[in-house]
Amino acid sequence: MTIKMSSWQYPTDFPQLLSGQVHLWRFSLDALPVTYENLRALLSADELARADRLLDPLKCHNFTIARGHLRRLLANYLDLAPEEIDFSYNVSGKPFVATKNSSGLTFNLSHSGSRAILAVAMNAEVGVDIEKVDFDLNFHLLAARYFSPMEFVALKGFSTIRQRRQFYRIWTCKEAVLKMIGSGFSSPEPVGTVSQNCCVINTFFAVNYVSAVVIDRKITAILKFNLSPDEGISPR
Ligand SMILES: CC(C)(COP(=O)(O)OP(=O)(O)OC[C@H]1O[C@@H](n2cnc3c(N)ncnc32)[C@H](O)[C@@H]1OP(=O)(O)O)[C@@H](O)C(=O)NCCC(=O)NCCS
Repeated sequence: MTIKMSSWQYPTDFPQLLSGQVHLWRFSLDALPVTYENLRALLSADELARADRLLDPLKCHNFTIARGHLRRLLANYLDLAPEEIDFSYNVSGKPFVATKNSSGLTFNLSHSGSRAILAVAMNAEVGVDIEKVDFDLNFHLLAARYFSPMEFVALKGFSTIRQRRQFYRIWTCKEAVLKMIGSGFSSPEPVGTVSQNCCVINTFFAVNYVSAVVIDRKITAILKFNLSPDEGISPR
């Protein structure tokens, strides 16, 4: 079955998540001070404590912005106030919605550089990863360490000029698989070993970024939305 993939779009109304769909939201972690404060005000006490434990101010900023946007977006799907959402975490730290009557809503978030992506699905495990391309990265070393022999051969099959991007394509798929499973990262499985029912998809994110989304069932569509840089995202 072919999967319909939209281009990145600004929704006019908040989109309804239908069965068999994955929604991807793309947003910047840059924010005006007023936006930062408004998003920070949505965080729970434990999230604020976690943000404050991050000694690197940029990490603290990015966590706060991402968590604030996450709350605002999920609130629209759940028809709740952002502050009303409860998160729980599995043993490896994967967050999920613990609020009662959350209608099977699942999500996964990834950030890299100054950008973030959120994947939202229904009654399915989902994993997402983005990476900003690092043109100084010695990707051959990482590939030799983490890629399966088949993945390594596939990488080498590309021309030198294309190998870096292909490395990131495989890497993000592997990370997204691990994040879908949510079970920790000590032994990254080859992407080829995931169940036949999983969809593993690289999707264009932005210039010099590579992203992948993985979902543990067959889907019909991936709809991609931009989050407005201002705060006007509460269409409901
Ligand atoms: C947890 C881990 C996956 C985060 O990866 P990352 O690329 O640094 O970060 P990302 O931005 O993609 O994802 C972070 C988000 O994923 C979610 N997350 C946290 N733990 C998770 C888990 N166990 N499973 C799935 N999602 C998880 C959170 O929402 C987190 O955001 P937050 O920190 O704002 O709460 C990372 O710690 C890790 O172990 N990576 C594996 C590295 C590796 O060995 N790769 C091998 C080659 S594939």
